[in-house]
Order: sequence, then C-alpha cells, then structure tokens
Amino acid sequence: MGVEIVPIRPGFGAEISGVEIGRPLSEEDRVAILRAIDDYAVLVFRNTGLDDVGHVEFSRIFGHVEKMPSFKKLFRSERTARDGKTAREAGPFFVTFGNLTDDGRIVDDPERRKLLAGDRMWHTDSSFMVERAAYSALLAYVVPPVGGHTDFADMRAAWDRLPAGVQARIEGLEGDHCVWWSRHVSGADISEAQAMGMPAARHPLVHRHRSGRTALFLASHIRAIPGMPPEEGRELVAELIEQATRPESTISVNWNVGDLVVWDNLATMHRATPFDDLKHRREMRRTTMRDGAPPVTGDDPYGAMYSGAVEKLSQLRGEPA
Ligand SMILES: [Fe+2]
Repeated sequence: MGVEIVPIRPGFGAEISGVEIGRPLSEEDRVAILRAIDDYAVLVFRNTGLDDVGHVEFSRIFGHVEKMPSFKKLFRSERTARDGKTAREAGPFFVTFGNLTDDGRIVDDPERRKLLAGDRMWHTDSSFMVERAAYSALLAYVVPPVGGHTDFADMRAAWDRLPAGVQARIEGLEGDHCVWWSRHVSGADISEAQAMGMPAARHPLVHRHRSGRTALFLASHIRAIPGMPPEEGRELVAELIEQATRPESTISVNWNVGDLVVWDNLATMHRATPFDDLKHRREMRRTTMRDGAPPVTGDDPYGAMYSGAVEKLSQLRGEPA
C-alpha cells in the first residue's frame, strides 16, 4: 500500500488515502505527500483518528510548527468539545475555531458571531504576519450536519488566467494585510479608522511559488495597496479576489469528525461557509507551519502581535488602561 491520490479537480485539491498519518511515515510516503501538496495545494485526509500528538507530529513534515498565543483574551473562548480541552491545554501549537463557548455552549453573543464571520471571507491564514505561514492543517472535532464546508481557490490558476495587461499592472504591487481590517469589513465592532491604526504586514500581490509557478497572494485582510488611494486599492483587491474565486478554480471540502485538511497558504485562498451557527456546533483545531525555515523573529510571532494588539485596540477605542 502506498500513498493514493485522487484529484478533486485536475491540478487542484486531492483526497489522499493509503497512508496512516497518525504513525511515523516512511520516507517514500513523506516525499509523496510533500510532492502532492506542491502539485495540488489542498490535501484531504479522511477519518484520520489523529490525536493532538499525531496532529503535531504529522504537521512537522511540512515545516516549522508555530507556537500560538492564548487567544482567550481576544475571543473569550478556545475550548474544544470533543475532548473537553482548550487549545492551550492541548499544547502550544494549536488554535481553535468554532462557535462554542468555554463551557461548550453555542455562541450567541452578536459581537463574537461577527468576529467569527470574518473567516467566511476569502483569506490566507496569517497573511497579516510579517513571516507568512506556508501551511495550515485543520482537524475536525465537531461538525454541523449541514453546511460549514471550507472552500478553496487556486491562486496559481488565478494568476495564469489573468489577462497579460492585468498581470503587468499588478506585478510589483504590494498589499498591507491586517487581520482587523477583515473583521471591520465583516461587521465586528472596529471602525475603519481603528483598523487602519492596527499593525499590518506588507507582502507582494504576486509571488513565485516554490513549485516554480507564479501565484497571486491575496486576502480579505488587505486594507491598502501602498502607492494607491485606499479606495482604489481596495477595489483592485476586490476585483482580483472575484477573478481568483470563480467556480472554475475553486473546490468545496465537506467535513466529517476526524478529517484533516492541509493546505498551502501560498498557493490558495480559503473561506469557511455558513451553517446554522445558532443551532449547530462546529469545532476545529489547527496547526500552522512556516515554510520549513527556522524562526527568524522568535518562535511565537502571534504572541508578540496579539499581546500588543489588545492594548492598541483599547487605546484606539479610548478605553481606560
Ligand atoms: Fe483560515
């Protein structure tokens, strides 16, 4: 038995079977999986049976697994329901997504629901960090019976498809990525001026992917294109995102408990899709990997950003220290 690859679309997205990823991998299987993610950008492993240790160990084949800060201060919850552990309790490598409170109830706080809704906009994970994350590996713990899929867009195909004039126009441009911008746009309690005052990371809109192909690097986190009036920059980004997410280069992945999906943030965008979040529960746990490189600015880049962000946001809102 070896790694079996069934493409979801030609050249984009693949279901992987024939390998137990909760056990140490043979060199042959490891190489086959790394080649598959370069070729397909999104790999779906069904019914993995992975636990926290297995999740992290498997994640390591893709590069340096980032440590995460506690998001509790910002999001007030990070519990997962299947094993009753918060992401922090599971170890420093996880971030949890879902609609459950600390005690496992469904979130009904309108403000928090708006923050969660930010993930329904097309984005790449961690594009708002100076050091970009190459890969995300998301494991399903609780899934709703209907909806809650994850859509992915092929950013190499998106580049290939752009008219030469547009390619020439955007090559060399950069975007300022700020996580608070996408939250502002999705309706969270943060104004445009506040989002513009928060930290951002600048990255080229077009880059050469490790596969040798050229890819767009976009996200709803982009609040401005340096050198362009803000409105014009945002319109350009919106147009490019629309072009990049046309049905011919997207896939939609459905989830069952125990499924793991690994994607390449440098070759894709993704978004969560809606479900009845006041009725049904959803909980996922993610590891995030840098592109094989050792840490340059410390092993917990999120921590530095978020610990400063809470204070900065309070200042911008005029809240007492
Ligand atoms: Fe995401």
